Amino acid sequence: MPDQVLTNRALEAMVDTSDEWITDRTGIKERRLCGDTKVYEMAARAATAAMTDAGITANEIDAIIAATITPDCYTPSLSCLVQKELGADGAFCFDVNAACSGFTYALDVADSYIKAGKAKTVLIVASEAISRITDYTDRNTCVLFGDGAGAVVACASDTPGMIDCCLGASGAAGEVLRASAFAEDRCVKMNGKEVYKFAVNVNIKVINELLTRSGLAIGDVSRVVPHQANKRIISAVASKLDYDADRIFTNLEKYGNTSSASIPICLDEMNKGGLLRDGDKIILVGFGGGLTYGGALITWRR
Ligand code: UT7
Repeated sequence: MPDQVLTNRALEAMVDTSDEWITDRTGIKERRLCGDTKVYEMAARAATAAMTDAGITANEIDAIIAATITPDCYTPSLSCLVQKELGADGAFCFDVNAACSGFTYALDVADSYIKAGKAKTVLIVASEAISRITDYTDRNTCVLFGDGAGAVVACASDTPGMIDCCLGASGAAGEVLRASAFAEDRCVKMNGKEVYKFAVNVNIKVINELLTRSGLAIGDVSRVVPHQANKRIISAVASKLDYDADRIFTNLEKYGNTSSASIPICLDEMNKGGLLRDGDKIILVGFGGGLTYGGALITWRR
């Protein structure tokens, strides 16, 4: 995470909002901003930490898949910039654009390459500078987003952790969350209520689909790790699924919505905090611009 903190109190001086409104409606208290730090620099730091944690070196990486909607440039891709930083010269590299669902999409692609025998070790990195496409005069959006990066290493194994993935999209509804490639219209514009309804519906749909296909019950799932957008979305999902809200991990109060990076940032915190035990069944679930959604059911392996 970048060091610079933007608190709700600081936002009160920028737009007509209040700490109380933001906290009540979203759960967010503060978020991080990357300033002049590049998206690829955050990505490379997260990737290096993930590789250290996984005990792998750069020359073992067969593929780098980067998820972002805020790359530093159109080309070279974020994944190629990360490759250069790491010296992972044997990897093939490409980016995925599925907005806040980007990590779940990248995970599914990595899993497919590994299952197809085309890669053994895949670095998945999600890095976002949403502050660069945020209009800090628009209170509807500027209170929500933050910057950050997260990464995981996915490896072929005789005891695979990946059980199933489930992806979807609703391009026809894409206009409700939009950021243009053209400079004059690059900031996020959003119909919050429509995104909210979509989010609750697809979170439930994805979780139910993963449970049905695996034959598991929701009570068998140790943790749900959702995209960190709004605590009310998360509570609504927990209540509709009759799932203990305490088992749904959140850190959005500290970081806001970091788009594709939010799920791997959560995984890192949970891992470091000792919240993930070998053999735990975990559901990751995301939604976002596109509109897109996706989830994965995994068994945590150490
Ligand atoms: O990764 C995906 C990204 N997007 C999301 O996840 C967004 C999902 N949607 C949401 O999280 C919620 O819809 C929001 C947090 C964006 C908005 O919450 P809401 O309860 O749906 O509020 P609203 O848009 O219905 O607005 C209610 C009122 C409005 O005032 P009036 O018309 O009732 O007078 C807004 O103008 O709150 C006002 N408002 C604010 N007031 C203070 C909107 N933003 C703010 C604000 N501070 N920052």
